[in-house]
Amino acid sequence: MESNWEEFYANQPKPSDLETSTKLLDNFVKRYSSDDTKIALVTSGGTTVPLEHNTVRFVDNFSAGTRGAISTEYFLKHGYAVIFMYRAKSLEPFSRHFTGQKFLDMLDLTQKDGRPQLTVCDKYSSSVAEALVKYKSAIREGKLLQLSFTTLSEYLWLLRAASQAVAPLKKRVVLYLAAAVSDFYVPSNEMSVHKIGSTIGAPKIALHLVPKILKPLVSLWVPEAFVVSFKLETDENLLISKARASLNTYNHKLVIANMLQTRKQKVTMVDKDKDYVLSLTKDQMDQGEEIESSIITDLVKRHQNFLSPNDSS
Ligand code: PMT
Repeated sequence: MESNWEEFYANQPKPSDLETSTKLLDNFVKRYSSDDTKIALVTSGGTTVPLEHNTVRFVDNFSAGTRGAISTEYFLKHGYAVIFMYRAKSLEPFSRHFTGQKFLDMLDLTQKDGRPQLTVCDKYSSSVAEALVKYKSAIREGKLLQLSFTTLSEYLWLLRAASQAVAPLKKRVVLYLAAAVSDFYVPSNEMSVHKIGSTIGAPKIALHLVPKILKPLVSLWVPEAFVVSFKLETDENLLISKARASLNTYNHKLVIANMLQTRKQKVTMVDKDKDYVLSLTKDQMDQGEEIESSIITDLVKRHQNFLSPNDSS
């Protein structure tokens, strides 16, 4: 049975670092309280569902955090300040360009005056420099705050804290909920304390439904913000109807619908009035173009329209 969201927060213990994260969030928001900078709160990566308090095993999902990490870079490019809420060890903006590379193969080691000197190999230097310049400038200008979570419970506590922190910035805020959030969990009071043993046979673990957090988020925590959720399906026949049902239920601004198999190539932007596809050709994919570039360009226009509906530019 689905518990309501108040019950969820009453029964799932707060993460120990929530207070520290809340202070970082408050300072970030304060910096932008008196100008007109637009803010994006991006969630990214999957959540784990631990099966034990002293966690040895957990249920996880496929998300690598690619969508969130890439989108963050494009939000920054469009002048947004970004709170990047990501699953620990999933992809992060800028450093994501180097995952899959052998880090040590990218470096050269020489000696100068008897001391080791590290440099980046010629082959990698322009790509490393490009990412480094953008990353350093985002950090120097205070435009990027990164906060991590691992479990479903940590995610939901952090999401509430982050939503409440940005709420005073009202319409200037876009919530871009790209994280793949588990729909099922084991409540804290039903979880085994220690590693589940095998001597008494296979355990029967009852998963409970996670309350739909979009509901309080849209209606109570950030009622004035531009909220964008994602809908992921594996059956194409359900995708658009489910996206539309989500819009009708939660009354937010936009659902970005994608299929597991084609998510890097094609998405459908679904709002109350219409839906249309954004996609890349195979050539564009081969040339390294990213669908997130089109998504964020489209979204920035929508957000601008939302902020100034009479401004046709
Ligand atoms: O990270 P990548 O590998 O790049 O993959 C990107 C992605 C496929 C994960 C991303 O594009 C995406 O689709 N993310 C959302 C996937 C998802 O969890 O969809 P859903 O149908 O379970 O949830 C839909 C929406 O409801 C989500 O925006 C979520 O914020 C919200 N939700 C989910 C669970 C829950 N208990 N409460 C919620 O409010």
